[in-house]
Amino acid sequence: MQFTPLSIDKHTRRPYLRLSAPHQRIIIAAPSLQDAPQICELLNDPRVYRWLLSPPFPYLLEHAVSWLTEVKAEADAVWGELEQANAESPDGPLKVVGGCPVRSILEENEDGTYTYLGDCGIFRNRYEDVMDMEERARRVQENNAKPVGDPDIVWSIGDYLKPSHHGKGIMTAVVGRLMREWGIPRMNFHCVRAATMNGNTGSVRVFEKNGFVLRRECVDVVTKGEPSSHRFLDWILLSHGRSPHRLA
Ligand SMILES: CC(C)(COP(=O)(O)OP(=O)(O)OC[C@H]1O[C@@H](n2cnc3c(N)ncnc32)[C@H](O)[C@@H]1OP(=O)(O)O)[C@@H](O)C(=O)NCCC(=O)NCCS
Repeated sequence: MQFTPLSIDKHTRRPYLRLSAPHQRIIIAAPSLQDAPQICELLNDPRVYRWLLSPPFPYLLEHAVSWLTEVKAEADAVWGELEQANAESPDGPLKVVGGCPVRSILEENEDGTYTYLGDCGIFRNRYEDVMDMEERARRVQENNAKPVGDPDIVWSIGDYLKPSHHGKGIMTAVVGRLMREWGIPRMNFHCVRAATMNGNTGSVRVFEKNGFVLRRECVDVVTKGEPSSHRFLDWILLSHGRSPHRLA
C-alpha cells in the first residue's frame, strides 16, 4: 500500500501514525480545522509561544484557521498523490512525495475523542540564520526550486507541545518517527536543520536525541521585534557520506 506506514481512521478517514508504547495513546494525524480553538489556546500560552519563531502573539482564532487552511491544503495534496499512486500501483515501489500528510499530535481519550497536543511540521528550510535578506531570499528560492525527492533539499522541522505533556519523551518520539518512517523513506531526507532559541534545552535535547549536531550559535536573529540568540542544529543522513561542516 502506498500509504505505508500510515493508517486511516475508519470513521473520519483522517490519516494518522500511532506512536509505540509507552505513548500508544498518541497519534500524529492529518491537520483538521476542528483543532483551531485548541491551537489558539496553546499558542497564547507563554510556555509555548515564547520559544517559537513565527506565530504571531496574541494568536487569534483567525490566525489558526488561516494557518490550518494552508497546511491542510498541503497535506491533502500529498494525500491525493498517494491515493492516485495507490490506485495505479498499490504494490509498486513506494512513491516519494514532497511533504508529510500528518503533523497534528493528538491524544486519544477514554471515550474515543481526541485532545489536541501540538504540532510537528516538516517544511523546506527558511534560512533564518542568513542575516543578509537578499542572500536569504536567494537561498530560499534555490531550495524551493529543487524537485521533489532531490537529496540536496534542505529540510526543517518545527514543533510544539501542550505544557501538561512536556518532559515525557513525546516530542522525541514524534520527531524520530516522522524522520525514520516518513522523511527518509518517503521524502528522501538527507539534510534537516532545526533552529532553537538559546535556553530552550528541551528542544535542543529533542533534536540531539534524534541525531542532530550543533552547527553554530547565531546571536543576532530578530524574532517578535526583539533580538534573540539561536542555536542551529543540523542532521544529515550518514549514508549520504557528507560532513555536517559542509553546511557551515
Ligand atoms: C521543546 C518541546 C517540543 C520538547 O518536547 P517534550 O516532549 O517535552 O520533550 P521530551 O520529553 O521528548 O524531552 C527530550 C529531552 O529534553 C529534556 N527536556 C524537556 N523539557 C525540558 C525543559 N523544559 N528543560 C530542560 N530539559 C527539558 C528532557 O529531559 C529530555 O532529555 P533527557 O532525555 O536527556 O532527559 C516542548 O517542551 C515544547 O513544546 N516547548 C515549547 C515550544 C518549543 O519550544 N518548541 C520548539 C521550538 S524550536
